[in-house]
Order: sequence, then C-alpha cells, then structure tokens
Amino acid sequence: MDKKEILLINGGGPLRGEVIISGAKNSALPILAACVLGTEEIILDGVPDLKDVEIMIEVLRHLGSKVEYIGDESLRIDSSGINTCETPFELMDKMRASFVVMGPLLSRFKEAHTKAPGGCNIGARPIDLHLKGFEALGAKALVNDEAISITTDGELIGNEIYLDFPSVGATQNIMMAATLAKGETIIENAAKEPEIVDLASFLSKMGAKIKGAGTSTIVVDGVEKLTGTRHTIIPDRIEAASYMLAAVMTKGDVTIKNVIGSHIRPVIAKLIEMGASVEEIEEEDIIKVSANQKLKPTNIQTLPYPGFPTDAQAQFMALMTVCDGESKIQETVFENRFMHVEQLNKMGAAIATSGNRATIVGVDKLHGADVKATDLRAGAALVMAGLTASGQTRISDIYHIDRGYSKLVEKFTKLGGDIKRVTID
Ligand code: EPZ
Repeated sequence: MDKKEILLINGGGPLRGEVIISGAKNSALPILAACVLGTEEIILDGVPDLKDVEIMIEVLRHLGSKVEYIGDESLRIDSSGINTCETPFELMDKMRASFVVMGPLLSRFKEAHTKAPGGCNIGARPIDLHLKGFEALGAKALVNDEAISITTDGELIGNEIYLDFPSVGATQNIMMAATLAKGETIIENAAKEPEIVDLASFLSKMGAKIKGAGTSTIVVDGVEKLTGTRHTIIPDRIEAASYMLAAVMTKGDVTIKNVIGSHIRPVIAKLIEMGASVEEIEEEDIIKVSANQKLKPTNIQTLPYPGFPTDAQAQFMALMTVCDGESKIQETVFENRFMHVEQLNKMGAAIATSGNRATIVGVDKLHGADVKATDLRAGAALVMAGLTASGQTRISDIYHIDRGYSKLVEKFTKLGGDIKRVTID
C-alpha cells in the first residue's frame, strides 16, 4: 500500500501569537504567466512557497523561460528564450490555472496551444469567456476533444469585450492578450479583485498601458513590446482570512501581519457583526483579531469582489458551526462548493443544504473525526475545525491544502495549535 500524508490535529485551547501572511497565490500565478510577455529580466518578490506556484514555474520552464530562485520568496525570470507555444496536457491537468498563460503566448507569439482545462471539484469551470475575448481580438480558437489551439494570422486588434460574468481568469487572460494588440481594448463587466489590480500594476511596470483595473471597465492601449521590471506580490487575502477565522473560532487572540484590510472588508465586517474584536493597524499592514465568547450567528452570500469572497466560504462555514444560533450561506459563484459540509458534519456540525444554500445550526462543541480535504479552502476549514474540536482529527487528501497554504503546520504550531503532518501506510 503506498504511503500517504495526513494532518493529525488535537483540538485544544485558543490560538495566540502572531502569523505573517505570504504572497497571494491568485496573484502570483497570473503574474508568473505575464512574464511570458517580456523579453527582459524580471524579479518577483513575495512569491509564496506553494505547490501551485511550482507548477506554474514548471510551465514557464517548459516554454523555455529561465526561472531561478534568488532567495526564499524571490524569483528571477527571463523569458527571452521561449521556444514553444504549447503547454503540455499533463501540466494543465495538474493545475487548470495554467490556462492564463494562453493570453500572454497569443499576444507575444500570435499562437497558444494546450489542453482545454477540465472542471474540478467545485465546478465545471468553463472557459467560454476567455475564448470570447480572444476571438474579439481577432484570434481563432479551435477546440476539439481535449486539445485547444488559439491562433491569429496577423496582429491582434483591440476591441470592446463584454464579460457575461466578471470572471477573474477571463479578465486576466484578455487583459494580458490586449497589452501587445494594436489599438484600444475595453473590457466591460471586468472582475475587480485585488489580484486583477496587482496584475495590472505589474504589467504597467513592464510598459503596458492599462487604466481602470479594480473597476468594471478596464481600458488597455496596445504597445510594441514589454520590458523587464521588479515587483512584490500582494499579500494573500484568503490566507489572512483563514487565520483570522481560526483565531476567532478557537476564541483566541492573534496578530495577523502582512495583510491589507481593504482586501477582506466583507470578512472583517461580518466578524465584527458577530461580536469578534478586530483592530486594523493600517499603516503597518497588521490586523489583530480576538474573541472570548461564542459568536452571534450571521448570513452570508458569496459574490464577485467586492462581495463576500467564495474562497473564504468554507472557512466561514466552519466558524458558523459553533456560533450561538442559526446561520445561512448562499454560494452564488460556483455550482458545487459545499463538499466540506459532509466532512464538517462528521465532526458533529449540524449543517443542511438545499441547492446553493446551506443552513448551519450552531452546536456547543465539535468532536474530532477522520475527514478528507475536498478542495484547498475546504481543507483549511477542516484544519480550523480540528483545532477547535475536542479530541483528535485526521485530515487526508492534504495535497489540496498544500496548493494554497504555505507552511501551514509551522504557522499554526507557532500559534499554539497541536498539528502535525504524518505519513501513514
Ligand atoms: C479564480 O478562479 C481563483 N483562482 C479562484 O480561487 C476563485 O475562487 C475565483 O477566481 C473566483 O474568485 C485563481 O485565481 C487561480 P472565475 P477563476 O473565472 O478565474 C464562471 C482558490 O481557492 N466562468 O472568476 O477560474 C465560472 O463557471 C481558487 O484559490 C464562466 O462561466 O474563477 C464560475 O462560476 C478556487 N466562463 C465563475 O465564472 C468562463 O469563461 C467564477 O469563475 C470563466 C468563468
């Protein structure tokens, strides 16, 4: 039988101390892909140590970019030597987010080939809006069975594109494709996430002409070429939210460092509504959270930014399982993002779902159990529950967690959590 790694957690007391948040996974991935657009050296700082980042580096190296670590969280990238526009199927299978390399390849080399990224546990994850954008710029997308080829005979030509849904990935791919297109591109109903703003600021430092990132209308004026630059990735707002929620769920007192409060306003607002204490020290990118009694219940609806982030829904649900009353969640972004419900109920939670709605009746205490991470944010929710429950919790399929949380065991141990990564047969 092959060995597998699990997390062994003994529920205990409140989390206390401080945690330093890493760079944002969902900013590092598109910014790494954007390096394909440049022909000069790029230095990235604040790059998180994550499995997904390793995969994106593998994609860049496969294309012919030189990528080397020049420090714990810094990379030097040189994409002048790119010699193929084909992203291998197995890398796309490993991480569907690799698809954001298509826009940069198409923009610089006028072609991009890969496998159409499949769905995942949380949803079908279609790419129709990405293709709509590429075709609006004059490219042709050929999709058969699994392979997908996007090509353009001449230049890409700027155009006006309306996104039926403010898709993060489609906004990123189209914005990157437009940077070297001829003329002006307007993206209407664009995603407004902080990671879009970070990508736009990185591209602008490379010489791109982009206005309106962070609003629903992004305007890109195509330029001839993009140069090198140095850039620091913004902090990971979802990692920060996860540690804030864990602190409050264990009735602890934790100082979160390297966090931008405005990026997680909905989570902060809800925690305050529920009776937690949240103190923002904006000038130092610090947030202090604490709670010393059961929190009041609340209701959330996930929405595109600046609404409540779907990526914090599972973690928030975990907190709701031990609130003093009934809470409700409506998940409007993904069609299947409640797989953590069954796992939390194994720990004594009282959650019922109907379609995209969940009702959570607070219980006095959760108890340890053998549970399974079903996606990276569900995994984080189970870690929080395990740290709060009585007894021992064993979490399997923790490769999901490793995709989006760097040094999770070290960070929680430093906060007083009894959590270990062990290998079992
Ligand atoms: C990004 O995924 C994030 N991933 C996700 O984080 C995050 O949950 C999501 O944005 C929403 O905020 C990365 O940034 C790597 P979308 P993305 O395109 O770009 C529909 C995590 O936990 N849609 O905004 O794939 C789609 O079906 C991950 O870190 C189309 O219909 O998200 C979904 O319902 C999970 N057609 C909705 O938009 C398209 O062409 C949101 O998808 C594209 C998307």
